[in-house]
Amino acid sequence: MAVEQTFSIIKPDATRRNLTGKINAKFEEAGLRIVAQKRIQMTKQQAEKFYEVHAARPFYGDLVSFMTSGPVVVQVLEGENAVARNREIMGATNPANADAGTIRKEFAESIEANSVHGSDSLENAKIEIAYFFAGTEIVG
Ligand code: TYD
Repeated sequence: MAVEQTFSIIKPDATRRNLTGKINAKFEEAGLRIVAQKRIQMTKQQAEKFYEVHAARPFYGDLVSFMTSGPVVVQVLEGENAVARNREIMGATNPANADAGTIRKEFAESIEANSVHGSDSLENAKIEIAYFFAGTEIVG
């Protein structure tokens, strides 16, 4: 297994409920290191571009509104097999289908307000990291 970096977002429903520390503990307990992190207010334009792949889906407008409804914490997580590992820790998109112990099962409010984003491939992780972070902000 290779050491990888993946991109993560702690979403507005989680920052609103003060869950940043509890979610970060899940990452660290699973062996992922937080090698970059910042709290930002995403702009509408940033959210639209980030979720561009879903632009034709019926939930796109609501998703962009939700992601800009409050602060988010954007992060780079590093570790063995980090992309897949993080997807396991997050759980299924819809918390109703998420396994026990996953972040979404424990914390998500709904399929939209599902507390975390995690890259779905190494290729997308690289694109998403570069979208939010300069190389100098990532300290492994
Ligand atoms: P998706 O990439 O399918 O899921 P994941 O975040 O698990 O990679 O969808 C991106 C986000 O879009 C998802 O986290 C929440 C939102 N979404 C909805 O609001 N409604 C939906 O029906 C789906 C499929 C996603």
